[in-house]
Amino acid sequence: MIDSFKSKSARFPAFALALAIGAFACAGTAQAQSTVDEGRKLAFDRSKGNCLTCHVIKGGDLPGTIGPELVDIKSKYPKREDLVAILHDETLRNPLTVMPPFGRNRILTEKEINAVVDFLQTL
Ligand code: HEC
Repeated sequence: MIDSFKSKSARFPAFALALAIGAFACAGTAQAQSTVDEGRKLAFDRSKGNCLTCHVIKGGDLPGTIGPELVDIKSKYPKREDLVAILHDETLRNPLTVMPPFGRNRILTEKEINAVVDFLQTL
């Protein structure tokens, strides 16, 4: 009797821990998903990123073609800081670019740039 009680209570913490880890993992994915969605919204929003004025992006309507199509971004720029740099101020890489310096000119906040980069890495 006492033995069976002991083994039940010994198992319970492991079960609780497994539940807690599961809940934590779900919250992590949900959050990652929401920054991607937020980044897509910012990128497509004509009064925010307005990236579609110049770039073809999968899922975006009425794109322009002033800049290159944004495809395979994750393999082209595996390091996220390179994408952050492009969005922050592309004139550092190409002084003649027509791409607006979203970070330097405060068109997007650092947080918004990070969300857009999360989205770009899904392309
Ligand atoms: C006014 C036009 C314009 C807008 C708006 C614009 N870009 Fe660009 N972008 C360009 C051009 C042109 C290039 C080509 C590289 C250069 O000019 O230095 C480029 C390059 C890029 C690159 C590098 C692509 C590659 O294949 O090497 C990325 C990534 C990028 N833009 C993302 C964005 C995102 C995200 C937005 C919106 C937040 C945006 N751009 C808004 C014009 C624009």
